[in-house]
Amino acid sequence: MSFLLDQFRIPGKVAVVTGAGGRGNSIGRAYALGLASAGASVVVADLNAAGAQRVCDEILSSGGKAIAVGVDITQPDSVANMAKAAADAFGGVDILVNNAALMAELAHATAIDIPLEEWNRIMNVNLTGALNCAKAIVPLMRQRGGGKIVNQVSGGAFPAISIYGISKLALVGLTTTLARQLGREKINVNAIAPGNTTSDAGRMLTPDESPFIKFLEASVAMRVRGAPDELVGALLLLCSPAGDWITGQVLHVDGGWVLRP
Ligand SMILES: NC(=O)c1ccc[n+]([C@@H]2O[C@H](COP(=O)([O-])OP(=O)(O)OC[C@H]3O[C@@H](n4cnc5c(N)ncnc54)[C@H](O)[C@@H]3O)[C@@H](O)[C@H]2O)c1
Repeated sequence: MSFLLDQFRIPGKVAVVTGAGGRGNSIGRAYALGLASAGASVVVADLNAAGAQRVCDEILSSGGKAIAVGVDITQPDSVANMAKAAADAFGGVDILVNNAALMAELAHATAIDIPLEEWNRIMNVNLTGALNCAKAIVPLMRQRGGGKIVNQVSGGAFPAISIYGISKLALVGLTTTLARQLGREKINVNAIAPGNTTSDAGRMLTPDESPFIKFLEASVAMRVRGAPDELVGALLLLCSPAGDWITGQVLHVDGGWVLRP
């Protein structure tokens, strides 16, 4: 039995988590803490460098290994610095979690009305940002003989009925494409599609009392909202040896959101 549990441990691995230092109770924070508790050294990366440092300090104070890095994932030079910081601190990278995104801050413009600059801004972060990170980190994974990439998509892409949903569905396409192209190099590429999660950003976007949440409560199979911690098991599956034969998949962690009528 202990052999099976050990498949979920990742001692000696180095993980980069983007978007891990923003709002207090964020999914990226839960991911960073979860990977550290499974034994990884964690690069806590975010546009918000002070927030990244706070999450890094949490990991260090509980006996884990981490560094904080300020990064703008839309800027290849900034992403290259993040990769270099990871390699300098920990000798390489084995795991990349592309979690940073614009979500709560997006206005609900229609596809016809959205200014092109705003469309480009969203795609630059939510899609191209993940590609920038993969371009910088995959060479480091190759040096280690393989790796794991997990892209954070969203239930909001199934179906895509918003600009945000389009950006996340495109990220599913990047996931399957990279999975196909990197598989022989032992780099697994998968996605997690969370349902409505009670991060601070999620609560800001859709408060518990909002009509949207009330509507969903009547239609989601199991439970509308999950906590950031409830996504961590899926992440560990996809980042650990337990997931070595899984690639190109979207793991829905959503209490049945995707099954709604
Ligand atoms: N909360 C939900 O209900 C929910 C549901 C499905 C998917 N998601 C996805 O989960 C992820 C995390 O969501 P969250 O609820 O924790 O939101 P969040 O806003 O707290 O996290 C997003 C993080 O990305 C960072 N970021 C934004 N632009 C960046 C850039 N250019 N470079 C680097 N970092 C940047 C922000 O600073 C922030 O820390 C996002 O990808 C989001 O789309 C969230």
